[in-house]
Order: sequence, then structure tokens, then C-alpha cells
Amino acid sequence: MASISFLINMNLYAAQSLPICGSFSSLFPPFQKTRQRSKSKRHHALRVACSGDTNRRDILIGLGGLYGATSLSSNLSALGLPLSPPDPTNCVTSTVVTPENGTFKIECCPPPPFTDYVIPASNNTQFRIRKAAHLVDDEYIAKYKEAIRRMKALPDDDPRSFKQQAAVHCAYCAGGYKQKGFPDKDIDVHESWLFAPFHRWYLYFFERILGSLIGDPTFALPYWNWDHPNGMRMPSIFTTDTTSPLYDPLRDSRHLAAFMDLNFNFDKEDKPHVNPTIKEINDNLATLHREFLLKTDQTDFFGAPYHAGANPNTSYGSLETVHNTIHMWTGVNPVTNPKSNGENMGILYSAARDPIFYCHHSNVDRIWNIWTTQLPGGPRSNFSDPDYLETSYFFYDENKNYVRVKVKDCLDSTRLGYDYQRADLPWLNAGGLIKRKSLSRVAPKQVFKVTKILPTLQFPLIVDSILRTTVNRPKVGANPLEREVLVIDVEYDKGQRVRFDVFINDEDDDDIGPQDAEFGGSFVTLPHHANQTKVSSSSFRIPLNNLLQALDATNDESITVTLCPKYGKVPVTIKGIKIERVPLLK
Ligand code: C2O
Repeated sequence: MASISFLINMNLYAAQSLPICGSFSSLFPPFQKTRQRSKSKRHHALRVACSGDTNRRDILIGLGGLYGATSLSSNLSALGLPLSPPDPTNCVTSTVVTPENGTFKIECCPPPPFTDYVIPASNNTQFRIRKAAHLVDDEYIAKYKEAIRRMKALPDDDPRSFKQQAAVHCAYCAGGYKQKGFPDKDIDVHESWLFAPFHRWYLYFFERILGSLIGDPTFALPYWNWDHPNGMRMPSIFTTDTTSPLYDPLRDSRHLAAFMDLNFNFDKEDKPHVNPTIKEINDNLATLHREFLLKTDQTDFFGAPYHAGANPNTSYGSLETVHNTIHMWTGVNPVTNPKSNGENMGILYSAARDPIFYCHHSNVDRIWNIWTTQLPGGPRSNFSDPDYLETSYFFYDENKNYVRVKVKDCLDSTRLGYDYQRADLPWLNAGGLIKRKSLSRVAPKQVFKVTKILPTLQFPLIVDSILRTTVNRPKVGANPLEREVLVIDVEYDKGQRVRFDVFINDEDDDDIGPQDAEFGGSFVTLPHHANQTKVSSSSFRIPLNNLLQALDATNDESITVTLCPKYGKVPVTIKGIKIERVPLLK
């Protein structure tokens, strides 16, 4: 368990020696001249990896609109400002170690000159429609394969090459960049509100590059329709032909044709199978209903704000949490293959090396669109924080121009020239599946043993067994314009995959699943980078209003909270549990 001072020390250490980001495996060497390497094709992560290097102009990077922010260093009043780009004056050499090649140096560099991206007028006439991957026709498949084949055939130093595109994601995944003005603060596009807009822009350019490589300005990526039972498996275009450029050998071989489990937990009893039971389908639909429809607030859905001067990884939104599970379900299973770190999809640094990544994120992006435009009860609000809207990212476009884009310009995907083929949304109506277990069960079935009952909470709390405690609610009925959120502050190791489930008022029955009203949700991390111990603090948020109603507990003074660890070599530490009252809609 790390204390606060440990965290501070780690930041100081990072500032001095920058053992930063985005490891590169042997298939994706960093593109700098200082590196000597062998030809091995084995896959493994580096022990320490780097953020980037002086010779790789293509992946750099920066966030934020505040170019003059250097003097704000350690100025707490800067909290709340948009994230700033990396500080070019803070460019140092990092040390990278691989089991194969030993230690070598890698240079970190200032971002190259850029221009502000102008959304092309042709987006209106050359519209792109992203179609469900399990429904595309042969003509489309041939085009898609050819585009990826050409991208993979580009020279390594071409910023449009598949390698370089994958490296862009890698660079943003694990503290590869420090914020300008805050040399001890990482930039990370995961586990906060940066997640959705970053990946939207990332796919936007990836898609345009593919289109330009095959001379088709209307070429669109497919989406992995995992929110529909017909799409809850890996799309066959990625799995059936092992010679296809869409194929990646580094996937969980047992899941290639299997029905997806959105509550996948690396359980050794996991028995993947092709044809799902009704319960398995409904478990997935109930999960999507809970995570997408019942998350009405931006922070709960998109993740928490992340401003200049703040530590990254503030809080996963439910969109990202569901996405995490699918990543890990797709990558090699590190429990049954202990030599693997979960590559490619199951760990962030390597995830974008699998072509299925872009199809997965196409659906993540589509769910964002649905959330802001198509939900019953009125659309949910899109990002509006003025500072956040100025936050920027850097990419290479299809003409190899290095451009700056801003969050505010990507909120409406039709402006970016694409939309999604419509599909049924069966999870919208899956609320009826969610029932109170304590009413329906015949006899309590004690599957797990609660090993610790904690009458009073004392933090830190190590979740190494099933824990149960009571949490008092703020005064009931205080303000009808407010709602309640259970906030669990978690500290965990970013290099590890961990999951724990939270049950509310489960009345001693721990056999709780997604279709039970007592199921509060799952905290699911997606590791950034193997063998990199870095303690991260995150808040796990569970909106309570619907849940309390379903449990007939709206007038209770307290709730019972059960924490049930599902996997993780290193248990998480809970730093606090409380119920917050927040405005009804933000
Ligand atoms: Cu940047 Cu699916 O992650």
C-alpha cells in the first residue's frame, strides 16, 4: 500500500529520470537511432519504457490550450485549467531496459511545429457511414483489408504507418508525457474525461489515412456492435482468416468464436462457448443498461475531470469501464498464459497493435453519440466545461501534416464527416431484467463467505477478501434537486489488472449478478504497462438513486456495502467510502 508521501516521491523520481511511458515490445521498437536490437519476435513488455524520442516527430503530442503555463508550476491555483502540452525545455534522456537488449537510452523531445487543424469542407459531401462489423459485405471487407494492408506496408518512419499509429496510442497510455509547467505530472488519456474525445480524434485520423491509402474518401471504419447480442463476439472479419491483415495472433484463442462476457473476470472456470444462454445474453444487456442508461451524469459516464496540474487517472467513467473488460476479454489471457501481459488488447501499451482495437473504439465512440443524442428521457449533456473544451491533442493527418485539434471541435461527429449505421439498442429496455434478489430467491444461497464484517470503517482498507460494512447516508430528503452517489476512493497498481464488485444491501447473499438490483457495479482497471509499479488513486462512483428505489431503501438511514474482489494479484486499497450528494444533472 502506498502512502501519499510515496506518491510524491514517485513523482519526484519521475521528474528526475523520467522512466516514462508507453513501452514498446519487440514487434514495435521505438524508432530511434540509438537502439541496438535483435530480431527476436517474442513479445514481452519492457521493464521500464519511454515516452517518445527526439527522432520520432510523428507521435508527439501535447494536450491543452495553455501554452504559457510554465510559470504555473506547483501553483495550486492553476488547478482547473486545461491540461497543457509537454514542456519542450524539459526534454531528457530516458533509460529503457528489455530482457533481450539490455539497457539503452532513448531521447525525449519537444513537439514539432504544428498547425491548427481545419475541418475540411469536404466532410459534408464525402460523408462516412461506419457500419456494424458483423454485417459488412464482401466488397467492404476487401477494401478494409486492402487499406490496412497498405498501412502496414508503409515504411516505419511514415507517421501514417500502422506501427506509428499504434505508437501514438502507446505514447499517451502511461505517463509518456509530462504536462507543460508541471514536470512531475503525467499526461494520460485514460481513466478521466480525456478518454472519449482523445479516441474520437485518434480514430478520425486513422480512418482518413486508411481512406486516402485506397483512394476512397468515404471509407469508414466498422464498429464492433458489442452492445447487441448479434455483435457480442469478435467480428469474424478479424478472426477467421489467419493470413488477413485484420488478424492478430495475440488474442485469447478460446474467445475467438465465443460469446462475450461483459462481466469476464479471468476466472479459471471461464468456459467460453459459442452459443449463449438467455441468462448470459440478459446479463450483458443488464450490464449495458446499468452502465450506459442509468449513468445520467457526465462524471459517471465519461470519467472525472482532469485539469492542468492534477494527477492523471482520476476516475473511470462507465463507458471506459465496459470498454476495459472487452479489451481484456480480447487479449491473451495472462492467467492461463502466465508469460503474457495480456498483449495485445489486454494491456494499454500494446492494445492499438491489434486492428480490432479501432473497431472496438468505433463502438465506444458510437455509444458516446447515442448517449448524447438518442437516450429516452432526453439526451444527456455533452461536455461543456469551457476550459476542457480548449484541451487539445496532436496528430498527423492523412497528408502527414502535424496538427492540433481541440475537444470542442469533436463533440458532434457529423461535423467530422461521419455517423453510424443505426442498430437496435436492446439494452435500453433491459431495465425490467433487473430485479431485487432478496424478493425472488427461494432460499439464500451463500456462495462466497463474507470474511470480514466491519462495523466501523477504518482506512486504509485492503480488499483481500469479501468485506462488508455500513455506510450512513446524508440526511434523507434534504434537496430533491440532488442525488446520491457512493464514492469509493481506490488506490491500486497501474501495472496490474484488478476488479472488485460492489453489492448494496445484499442481505448475506453474495451470489449477486448483473440482473440483481443489489449489484452496484464493478471497478475494472485496464493495466497500462507491465512491470511498472505505479500507484494510482481513482474514485469509483456508483449512482444510488435508482438502486435505492429498486431496493425499497429510499428512506433508510444507511446502506450495507459489500466489496467482493474478483481478480488481481495485488489487492486494492480503499482510502475512503462515502455517499455524496450532487446536483441531479450536471
Ligand atoms: Cu486508449 Cu481502449 O484504449
